[in-house]
Amino acid sequence: MDYQFLKVEQPQEGVTLLKISAPKSLNALNSTILKELDAFIDNIGSGTRVLIITGDGEKSFVAGADISEMANLNEQEGYAFGRLGDKVFRKIETLPIPVIAAVNGFALGGGCELAMACDIRICSDNAKFGQPEVGLGITPGFSGTVRLPRLVGQGMAKEMIYTGRVIRADEALRIGLVNAVYPREELLEKALEMAAKMVANAPLAICACKESINRGCDLTMDEAIELENKLFAGCFATADQKEGMAAFLGKRKAAFTGK
Ligand code: HXC
Repeated sequence: MDYQFLKVEQPQEGVTLLKISAPKSLNALNSTILKELDAFIDNIGSGTRVLIITGDGEKSFVAGADISEMANLNEQEGYAFGRLGDKVFRKIETLPIPVIAAVNGFALGGGCELAMACDIRICSDNAKFGQPEVGLGITPGFSGTVRLPRLVGQGMAKEMIYTGRVIRADEALRIGLVNAVYPREELLEKALEMAAKMVANAPLAICACKESINRGCDLTMDEAIELENKLFAGCFATADQKEGMAAFLGKRKAAFTGK
């Protein structure tokens, strides 16, 4: 499929690299990009075991939602625009495969929100994160008020959102917004290394872990444990469980089929 604003690459077995590419606006998300993202996610094939999302160019991951498109929206149109981003980001969050955000520069507003919809965030040392929306007279509208407090705690999320303060990579690491910071030129290589480790493991087991963590965080402790138990049990109905354990006992490397 051809996209105007997305570049799709297959850098290694099982890994798809998606670059958001709108160089004139530092990869700001307009509704066409959001619709392309939606179509891309809907069409991800089973060959993709890990998705990496990054920004095209050296300066920006995504500098937010497109302010020039939002400037003249009325309330109803604002609702529709926010809803579109929410829907696409939720699709990313609930994909049955790991999604890594390789944040290579500005991740502001909708860019920070996109990164937060991914399972894992790593960034380059020039990355900058923030939710500057209140300075534009709006709230974070792609679920930033929902995901940021879940990731960094309410106090830090409220400070970032109320002040619009932009934080650097070292602070993002300290507050747990990213897992690791790398020199800019090493970021993709590190993302690919992480992805390769995931690709070597059992895909259905990873998918079950993702569901258990994502859904479990919104359940009571007892409900979450029950959910984990069901997902754990489900693994014993897979060929990958037989293969993984047989490989261990046979002192060989497992060859998982995702079945
Ligand atoms: C539209 C944008 C943009 C954005 C940058 N550009 N961010 N256009 N929407 N979010 C454009 C600029 O207008 C400029 O276009 C070009 O990209 C280069 O940007 P500069 O500002 O010249 O670059 P620089 O001085 O390096 O500053 C980079 C920056 C700054 C700090 C990232 O551009 C900035 O503050 N951008 C806005 C960030 C922001 O507020 N994001 C949140 C948006 S609200 P020209 O034509 O002049 O070259 C949001 C809401 C999400 O995300 C929820 C919606 C429902």
